[in-house]
Amino acid sequence: MRTALTDLVGVRHPIVQTGMGWVSGPRLVTATARAGALGVLASATMSPDQLRSAVREVRSRTGEPFGVNLRADAGDARERVRIIVEEGVRVASFALAPSRELIAELKDAGVIVIPSVGAVRHAEKVAAWGADAVVVQGGEGGGHTGSVATTVLLPQVVDAVDLPVIAAGGFHDGRGLIAALAFGAAGVAMGTRFLLTAESTVPDAVKARYLAATARDITLTTAVDGLPHRMLRTEMVAALEGAGRLRSLAQAVRRASGFRRLSGLSWPRMVREGLAMRHGKDLSWSQTLLAANTPMLLRASMVDGRTDLGIMAAGQVAALIDDLPTVAALVDRIMTEATRTRTTLPPP
Ligand SMILES: Cc1cc2nc3c(=O)[nH]c(=O)nc-3n(C[C@H](O)[C@H](O)[C@H](O)COP(=O)(O)O)c2cc1C
Repeated sequence: MRTALTDLVGVRHPIVQTGMGWVSGPRLVTATARAGALGVLASATMSPDQLRSAVREVRSRTGEPFGVNLRADAGDARERVRIIVEEGVRVASFALAPSRELIAELKDAGVIVIPSVGAVRHAEKVAAWGADAVVVQGGEGGGHTGSVATTVLLPQVVDAVDLPVIAAGGFHDGRGLIAALAFGAAGVAMGTRFLLTAESTVPDAVKARYLAATARDITLTTAVDGLPHRMLRTEMVAALEGAGRLRSLAQAVRRASGFRRLSGLSWPRMVREGLAMRHGKDLSWSQTLLAANTPMLLRASMVDGRTDLGIMAAGQVAALIDDLPTVAALVDRIMTEATRTRTTLPPP
């Protein structure tokens, strides 16, 4: 299926596997690239050296294009951009709108720039700065997310910018892909669906929690790090939501000391990181501590399988997913269903 997205990045199918911290590593990205979709490495949870070796690992296993996701506000964003350029990565994807300078640097080197946006004005801004396409994530999407549903946000962005728009938030099948194309998108980007595949390295116990989730088990909360964050509703999340300021500070300190040992971060560094994430937001001290720990909270579940300690970012679409196909089988199924759906639509 040829769209503005497949033409832009040179993939066979208009499907993106997004960068998810601790989840989108070389194994998942390689499987996605081999299946003909665009795989994106998550770099926010890697050191620059780890990023370089992850890129090389994917490159050694496939000649197909792939991307790297990074945080535009990371202190070492420039160093990561240099790695992307030096290693000849095809696509740079950004969790937050990148600066005009970062976009220019990447584009001068021939890298395709695809920021993720959650609001029309952000899409307009990055379009004016030269982005090649945008991923627009509606509120049903997993991880940090907005409050406007994909069905409302997507057409707004399609109408506002003259760029390929990739729809994210709530997609998992071929019907969704056709619906996104009908809205004017050039493809779909999926996180939760790719987390729940055979090649995803997420521990089985964690995958089982996602598979068992109903729509009511997925919540949007600011209790973890002060930003709206969509995740599975676990006992820990419920406790954070229910706790008063003092109790949640005590809990945060207790958890933070555990994670400090795990992460090797010093207390001053943790507080500094928390304060940086706090920028301008009205976060309590416990939220500030937890904000610094968010990557470690995600790691506890996605790497260590601690469903009790970790957070499990999840889109609402987890409620519709009940299997763990290989990435190749998933992409094949989506494309087969998309073709069938298109041919069975009533004629205009
Ligand atoms: C476990 C998990 C971790 C995520 N981590 C990141 C991240 O590090 N950077 C980012 O830009 N988006 C991150 N996201 C958001 C996804 O990239 C994607 O935009 C979102 O999952 C799309 O919605 P869906 O889950 O309905 O497919 C994460 C999502 C999940 C589920």
